Amino acid sequence: REISAAQLKIKEWYARYGRDNLPWRMTDDPYHIYLSEVMLQQTQVKTVLERYYFPFLKKFPTLKALGDAPLDEVLKMWEGLGYYNRARNLHKTAQTLIGQAQGAAPTLPTEIDELIKLPGIGKNTAHAVAAFAFKQPVPVMEANVKRILCRLFLLKSPNDKHLWEYAYRLVDKNNPFDYNQAMMDIGATICLPKKPECGECPLEEICNGKKDPEHYPVKKSRKV
Ligand code: ADE
Repeated sequence: REISAAQLKIKEWYARYGRDNLPWRMTDDPYHIYLSEVMLQQTQVKTVLERYYFPFLKKFPTLKALGDAPLDEVLKMWEGLGYYNRARNLHKTAQTLIGQAQGAAPTLPTEIDELIKLPGIGKNTAHAVAAFAFKQPVPVMEANVKRILCRLFLLKSPNDKHLWEYAYRLVDKNNPFDYNQAMMDIGATICLPKKPECGECPLEEICNGKKDPEHYPVKKSRKV
């Protein structure tokens, strides 16, 4: 089957070319992974990596430490990152989980349905935490992954429901962690918005969009 061939290619590619210097790929602490995904929602990898991820975790190494800290201190560690509701929601989520733990160490829920109820955790972040922290067999969606799916399956302007259907079809259920990290790397380094490097892509053979990749997805016209 084409899908399993693609999954194998992705896996082999990731082992050779995947970015191996990202600290949130080298931890299995769900809180650390969750923090990275919230930071990466609106901020580039480089900025998160060089300036924010480590200092934040040094100051707030656990959910308990985060929730017990005054909001001011949390916002201070977020200074310069922007989208400050992310920091407010992280703090609120930590406090919610502390309350639910009733004196035990707070933990993140493992299921998407539960994760998504927490402040600041939308569908994408819930999938990322489930896949990366809890190794659930679910796809992760972000802008780079969307672009890959659009090209692979010739989607010009898919709605969310369609995109998720394709994403669920392609995800490697035996190895969701590496699969999803690989898709982000392929999107960030090969399947670029302009002039993608199709010759380097592990999905070239099965990609329907490689003849005119820049036509997929169709750019939304900007409202004026
Ligand atoms: N963007 C969002 N999540 C990411 C991850 N785990 N690795 C790299 N970029 C990301």
